[in-house]
Amino acid sequence: MSKFMEWIDARFPATKMFEDHLSKYYAPKNFNFLYFFGSLALLVLVNQIVTGVWLTMSFTPSAEEAFASVEYIMRDVEYGWILRYLHATGASAFFIVVYLHMFRGLLYGSYQKPRELVWLFGMLIYLALMAEAFMGYLLPWGQMSYWGAQVIISLFGAIPVIGDDLTQWIRGDYLISGITLNRFFALHVVALPIVILGLVVLHILALHEVGSNNPDGIDIKKHKDENGIPLDGIPFHPYYTVKDIVGVVVFLFVFCSVVFFFPEMGGYFLEKPNFEQANAFKTPEHIAPVWYFTPFYAILRAVPDKLMGVIAMGAAIAVLFVLPWLDRSPVRSMRYKGWLSKVFLLEFCVSFVILGVLGVLAPTPGRTLLSQVCTVLYFAYFLLMPFYTRLEKTKPVPERVTG
Ligand code: HEM
Repeated sequence: MSKFMEWIDARFPATKMFEDHLSKYYAPKNFNFLYFFGSLALLVLVNQIVTGVWLTMSFTPSAEEAFASVEYIMRDVEYGWILRYLHATGASAFFIVVYLHMFRGLLYGSYQKPRELVWLFGMLIYLALMAEAFMGYLLPWGQMSYWGAQVIISLFGAIPVIGDDLTQWIRGDYLISGITLNRFFALHVVALPIVILGLVVLHILALHEVGSNNPDGIDIKKHKDENGIPLDGIPFHPYYTVKDIVGVVVFLFVFCSVVFFFPEMGGYFLEKPNFEQANAFKTPEHIAPVWYFTPFYAILRAVPDKLMGVIAMGAAIAVLFVLPWLDRSPVRSMRYKGWLSKVFLLEFCVSFVILGVLGVLAPTPGRTLLSQVCTVLYFAYFLLMPFYTRLEKTKPVPERVTG
């Protein structure tokens, strides 16, 4: 074996890469369960790619055949049903995992210097993931696929001057048609997965350049032993590779329960109107995007003017990109920030969830008002951050991690 590895290492840096990123990558010893979600996101990404490749083998990307080919996969293709349920449940799982992964970042200030690029690459992944999910959703060519895409693509029509031409360019037709389906298929199965994979590599390379943050938000590189190894660091492999298996097992229990027992998740993972084929002449009674987009959809609907709504929705995502420069706190972790930061993070999370629920429901005057209040609260977290993080009194940060 060692002769073989010598041969390889003389030609390719296999051992060096293994050491740099796993066996000699020193991660803080105080990671908690919130640190599972990075590796879980990787797991879900692999699941999406593998099941996606096999689905593609039996899927036909044309307006005439797409819907029937999904039914064919579900009924006739051997194990087709499990491939599809793994892929559809995987899409929702991806967003659950990524939202928790991002929440960990907010909680422990992982986006702060020197991890700004880790955060920015993460945000680009998030954008690409949203595009990936949106385009994938058109493929089964059900009623919600069609009308959901109709609503979202028509938003680009609100842009002055170029709006109409832009929507036509996106659709490749005067209305959503097989042409749109075909290009979304190309982007969903080829272009965006490549982009996402590339960004994930950059994300992890940027992280390993500066080292992981931790629940204390302390720089473990400040205290090293005589060999230059951080005193509060442990090799990622085998310690965290083994620990991550615990997270993977718990995750798979939940994930498989959904796949095998509740694959539609009460209409939230697979929406009911999507069991009916797309029909350009029949608008569903109530159009709502899949749950992971609904917070932003609620922000869009909270603003009465269409263009302003689109701008607000775009700003709700764009503001996350500049987060590293909004936080002026001298400390990273919520453990040592003041009560203002804690209250603002809490109100942000609560308003995000309420917006998510409102985005699923049909609007009423009361709900619109509530979504307006939550939209203001959503932005308040970010826009007031430069002030409350500077004003508040922080707690003293210990020199070494506390566990
Ligand atoms: C496909 C999606 C993603 C994958 C596979 C992924 C993967 C990872 C992995 C493996 C880690 C190291 C382990 C960990 O700290 O949990 C990590 C860290 C991190 N990720 Fe992601 N990530 C993804 C999306 C995102 C997104 C959307 C954001 C935020 C916008 C983000 C922000 C971060 C940050 C700030 C860290 C450093 C955390 C720390 O050191 O405390 N990631 N990511």
